[in-house]
Amino acid sequence: MKKLEQLYEGKAKKVFSTEDPDIVIVDYKDDATAFNGEKKGTIVGKGVINNRMTNYIFQVLEKEGVPTHYVEELSDRETAVKKVEIVPLEVIVRNVAAGSFSKKLGIEEGRKLLAPTLEFSYKDDDLGDPMINDYFAIAIGAATREEIDKITEYTFKVNDVLKKFFDEAGIELIDFKIEFGRFHGDIILADEISPDTCRLWDKETHEKLDKDRFRRDMGNVEDAYQEVFKRIGIK
Ligand code: C5P
Repeated sequence: MKKLEQLYEGKAKKVFSTEDPDIVIVDYKDDATAFNGEKKGTIVGKGVINNRMTNYIFQVLEKEGVPTHYVEELSDRETAVKKVEIVPLEVIVRNVAAGSFSKKLGIEEGRKLLAPTLEFSYKDDDLGDPMINDYFAIAIGAATREEIDKITEYTFKVNDVLKKFFDEAGIELIDFKIEFGRFHGDIILADEISPDTCRLWDKETHEKLDKDRFRRDMGNVEDAYQEVFKRIGIK
């Protein structure tokens, strides 16, 4: 499969068309941004890790009954995926308080939540991805009730599968963000699942092994990404 025309360049990826109108190629970059693009940098090797880790996890999720956009890994940084229309919602699940949840509610980072939470942000850089609820999403035409229900069902399934998956690698899944797309009328998981989009803490020491090391200038960013990759044991 060959890259034809560049369709899009985002903060962390480029997307190219192919001869097949249903397939695009995603090319993962090492560029990192945070705080809606205000902070910029490079995490050497991140593109390879995020590409390979996402592909591995998406195949695990497929086996567990969550449909995804994954088609074929083409190289360390490039993957063929189904061409979807992205649902303009960031879907966030939290198992442990951290980040914006801790800030908003005055709850210390690391407190285990009594039940997982699910929230939606409306994907709009100019607005700073505001948090909305399902009624907002339906009212503004971001998704239908049926789509929201499917997204909710898949999202909690993803949480169950990922919690176990990371636990077996000695990692606690604190929270994560996922995105969905429409493909021939069906909702499928799209985008990525990586240390850019998850909070991952060492189970024993609670050391942060994710993008918070970049956001908070904690150092050892590359090492943390490599550590997650190594523990998952992707061949
Ligand atoms: O910042 P906040 O606490 O709301 O982030 C929750 C989770 O969603 C974190 O795992 C973070 O990495 C992820 N996230 C993301 N992309 C965003 C916002 C949050 O991947 N634009």
